[in-house]
Amino acid sequence: MIKSIKGILIYSAIVLIASAVYFVYAYTVYPTPPERETFLSEIGEGFGEVGLWALLFIYARTLLKLVMGKGPLAKRLLPDYSAPIAASLFQQLLRFLDRTHVYVGIATVAIILLHIAMMGIPMQILFFPAVLALVIWQGVFGLFLTWRYTPKELKKLSYLVHAQFLTGIMIGIFAYFGHLLIDN
Ligand code: HEM
Repeated sequence: MIKSIKGILIYSAIVLIASAVYFVYAYTVYPTPPERETFLSEIGEGFGEVGLWALLFIYARTLLKLVMGKGPLAKRLLPDYSAPIAASLFQQLLRFLDRTHVYVGIATVAIILLHIAMMGIPMQILFFPAVLALVIWQGVFGLFLTWRYTPKELKKLSYLVHAQFLTGIMIGIFAYFGHLLIDN
């Protein structure tokens, strides 16, 4: 477990450093776009906020699974782990989150795509096409996971690339630095 946490931390640090380097480059090359306060962009801003909360909600489920010893991480973190008495409440919550994930996931992808479309985001700043690609990536592999006729091998691959933190870490870091570049 220490090893996997170490792995995640090293991975995050590499993404963070690479993003910071690119941030400095983009900051010197691209001028901050003027703030546009159109009707669409005002609504688009709202979608951005909702999208952020939706992502936090999705990854809270992953954290909850780890805390409850559902993931290999927590099992190795707490060898004598036994479910706490209040677990049934958490189990109910987790079951609810599991059942709703597909809908929350589809809504999240839709909301983030709407946000991007309405804000007219500068695609020459590579953080933005990257976030766009990653969100579509999550959506497409999520659909493969859910679709009944997905071949077994593709389903396995989809689980591997969809059900993990690494994409989330990239989405978070890229979106943060991207917004730093265009915020007036
Ligand atoms: C930005 C959007 C999405 C994100 C960030 C996301 C993230 C995740 C993560 C982290 C997991 C691992 C389970 C966990 O431990 O939490 C997961 C599982 C899963 N996701 Fe998504 N997801 C998204 C969209 C979707 C969509 C659109 C679908 C289906 C249409 C979908 C279907 C699934 C399925 C079937 C599983 C595996 C079963 C399960 O753990 O319940 N996801 N997703």
